[in-house]
Amino acid sequence: MKIAIGNDHAATDMKNEIMQHLKDRGCEVINMGTDGYDSVDYPDYARKVCDAVNAGEADLGVAICGTGVGISIACNKIDGIRACCCSEPFSAKLSRQHNDTNVLCFGARVVGPELAKMIVDEWLDAEFMGGRHQLRVDKIMALQ
Ligand code: RB5
Repeated sequence: MKIAIGNDHAATDMKNEIMQHLKDRGCEVINMGTDGYDSVDYPDYARKVCDAVNAGEADLGVAICGTGVGISIACNKIDGIRACCCSEPFSAKLSRQHNDTNVLCFGARVVGPELAKMIVDEWLDAEFMGGRHQLRVDKIMALQ
């Protein structure tokens, strides 16, 4: 599985930990940056991650900022993207099963690296359930 990952300056260390975790899981990782600590604008990295997902260059995306809120709002402005902002694994798992999320967001200033890895694992291990949930996802996408 190919995962595009991107972040702002608040989440560079977290991104590096999650990239290694994804590689340890056997994922191919496409790093969209930022790789530094200079202040950048999270919508720019939301765009890079979501474009990679929409282009089929990545199967799924992970986008991280300080809280996860700003970058998830930005991701959800992009056609074709269903992003969730999760601080615990239960919502991450259900967001795949029920909402067919294709981008996972979280906050590097909110969760620690071990909890973040659990969130990522639950999200990646879950599968969309379809059925009645497909109808609802279709309605979400029709809102765009
Ligand atoms: C950057 O300071 C911060 O605003 C950003 O990482 C994020 O938390 C925004 O939602």
